[in-house]
Amino acid sequence: METKLLKLEDFILEGRLSEADKKKLDEAAKVIKTGGLAAFPTETVYGLGGNALMKEAAGKIYKAKGRPSDNPLIVHISHVSDLEKIVSEIPEMSKPVMEAFWPGPMTLIFKKNASVPAETTGGLGTVAVRFPSHPAANYLIEKAGVPIAAPSANLSGRPSTTSALHCIEDLLGKVDMIIDGGSCDVGLESTIIDFTGKIPVILRPGAVTKAMIEELLNIEVMEDAALKGPLDGEERPKAPGMKYRHYAPKAPMLLVSAGVKGHENMVPDKILELIRENRKAYDRPALLCSKECADIIGADELSGIDVRITGNLSDMAGIAKGLFKHLREFDEDGADIIIAEGYGEEEIGEAVMNRLKKAAAWRIIYV
Ligand code: TXA
Ligand code: MG
Repeated sequence: METKLLKLEDFILEGRLSEADKKKLDEAAKVIKTGGLAAFPTETVYGLGGNALMKEAAGKIYKAKGRPSDNPLIVHISHVSDLEKIVSEIPEMSKPVMEAFWPGPMTLIFKKNASVPAETTGGLGTVAVRFPSHPAANYLIEKAGVPIAAPSANLSGRPSTTSALHCIEDLLGKVDMIIDGGSCDVGLESTIIDFTGKIPVILRPGAVTKAMIEELLNIEVMEDAALKGPLDGEERPKAPGMKYRHYAPKAPMLLVSAGVKGHENMVPDKILELIRENRKAYDRPALLCSKECADIIGADELSGIDVRITGNLSDMAGIAKGLFKHLREFDEDGADIIIAEGYGEEEIGEAVMNRLKKAAAWRIIYV
């Protein structure tokens, strides 16, 4: 299949959609409405969009990504009022949450109604819904005139895509269109919160944090067991997608993290020890760490190591934004072992650490 590439040139330069950009999105909207697939930017990561109400489109999405068909898709809307068209019940408690954080990087799980095909929800009776804030995503959904099912626009198992270049790497020839809107602001996928039970449950951490929800609702919310460690054979995460190997570069990754508060300054020492131990046994050892950590270890010790700097520790949002790009780069570099620095789990740090723990397949060394 030939993939058409369209670049939102003015949006990338000025941050707002020009008439020329809108024309390109009109084309993408037509593709989606008529059952085709288009990758498009959102504020979190790129999405691989198809008509959420057409089961054939859902089938195409699974095929293009190589994604197991029991892993449900997120349905994207462009008005809160669109929600009524796809869910059977809107719990009271979800209303202030939507009001506070939509449009934005948050997905809520509701009971679905009959208009959403089982193919879109991986056979579940519930549906994940997101109202993104990205202007191009909003315009596209509105013009398509249907809710858009969009998982992250990566091949299944690879890190999510945060630029059109990543989408091209994974999806060229497999989808009808890729819309280039520059790099994504957040860089990590949306927070997922399940509202189908009595107490809201966070299934995936993101830029909207547990603390933000708790403060707003004035109750304690729960976190799915899958966020705390690898599940044993019997347990299943509530978000089916969280059970798959994810975000993972090809090389094995070791995550070095402070086990207790106050031990943060021991992390660079442990990383240095691991570098010394491993540098001979591997052809292309790699390190993923902050500027501060690299400075402490020093250029001499790092010579011959494939170092990717995540950013400054004072800017966790910046670290989040570039994370998936770096994980992808290790594959290109041919890294054969990756040592990664762990961070504090406050605010967006929790989502960063969730992705790093999964990328490391829970191989975590606590100091
Ligand atoms: O930021 C995002 O959420 C991006 C952009 C494109 O919006 N989308 C995204 O979709 O990350 P995806 O498919 O890569 O991740 C969706 C996650 C999966 O782990 C899936 O299992 C879970 O959401 N999910 C979807 N529907 C669900 C449902 N009804 N119940 C529980 N989990 C669900
Ligand atoms: Mg994904």
